[in-house]
Amino acid sequence: MKKIVTLAGDGIGPEIMSAGLEVLEAVAPKINFEYELDAKPFGGAGIDAEGHPLPQATLEAAKEADAILLAAIGGPKYDKAPVRPEQGLLAIRKELNLFANIRPVRIFDALKHLSPLKAERIEGVDFVVVRELTGGIYFGEHILNEDSARDINDYSAEEIRRIMRRAFIIAQGRGKKVTSIDKQNVLATSKLWRKVADEVATEFPDVTLEHQLVDSAAMIMITNPARFDVVVTENLFGDILSDESSVLPGTLGVMPSASHSEGGPSLYEPIHGSAPDIAGQGIANPISMILSVAMMLRESFGENAGAEMIENAVDKTLNQGILTRDLGGQASTAEMTASIIANL
Ligand code: NAD
Ligand code: IPM
Ligand code: MN
Repeated sequence: MKKIVTLAGDGIGPEIMSAGLEVLEAVAPKINFEYELDAKPFGGAGIDAEGHPLPQATLEAAKEADAILLAAIGGPKYDKAPVRPEQGLLAIRKELNLFANIRPVRIFDALKHLSPLKAERIEGVDFVVVRELTGGIYFGEHILNEDSARDINDYSAEEIRRIMRRAFIIAQGRGKKVTSIDKQNVLATSKLWRKVADEVATEFPDVTLEHQLVDSAAMIMITNPARFDVVVTENLFGDILSDESSVLPGTLGVMPSASHSEGGPSLYEPIHGSAPDIAGQGIANPISMILSVAMMLRESFGENAGAEMIENAVDKTLNQGILTRDLGGQASTAEMTASIIANL
């Protein structure tokens, strides 16, 4: 019996979490997957319930879990709160040592027309962003004075080495190419990043390493995204570039992710946020959450057949033209979820 902690969070979070769990419930008997769920308050919901975005009981349950599903947190209600929901997200990543954030980018056949890029530019696009998630400027000192401010970007060689190795291992199972993205023409952290990347590359002679400066990498993601196989980069660049990558499939609403540590429970979440602009209307695209459930089945539980079943059902639903509003359709979250379940 696998224990899955669920953190629905805020905004569209509870809506898409329900959708993901319905799909899990439907697929589980087909693959004899036995699990129990433990729903815990987190983010703004944690602040409302316990006065903290990462309540102690939530953190303890997460540490004991076999895997964690997280939907989304944050929202305008908390913009002026002394402790923001986002601090809970950063804290759980740090506490669970979730340093390796995997954000796959693939183009769905049925959605090709939605990409703002010309068809020939998105042809063959299939890459993974490997984002360092527990270091860098996110976790350095943040000092805000009245008329000056400072954020420290800090990386140790070991932090870079372990994320780099993950990227190379993922590349070995794919197109055998790693693009390491940095700003080594300016930043000391990036000079170290590039040096460690070169060292790690010698451990993986079957994988090609290329370096790309982050500004031109942002351009290539639009002009020639098919060039990428595995992209590895620091925390802040990975945050920005992975949202940029969502314009290739056409919406943030189809983008899942997995975050791994060394041996502890992994966490699965959409890359997008709580979408306050559409929350409570039942129109959010649930695919990002549903594909995060598929990633959980594959990467935490070795349930490849279950993961593929979900992915194929998503493809089929899109091919049938069942589309939420972000995809130009009219289907509700519930209708799209029901269709995916019917197609399992
Ligand atoms: P967002 O990702 O929430 O939304 C950006 C745009 O994408 C919005 O127009 C939204 O409607 C749309 N969108 C996102 N997910 C969608 C879905 N599943 N279906 C349809 N449309 C979708 O980014 P934002 O508006 O900049 O941030 C809102 C809040 O979310 C902020 O508080 C932010 O800090 C937080 N946030 C949380 C996470 C997380 O929980 N991991 C990630 C990013 C942002
Ligand atoms: C993400 C989000 C978070 C991040 C925010 C909400 C702190 O944008 O998961 O990409 O910047 O990592
Ligand atoms: Mn982000």
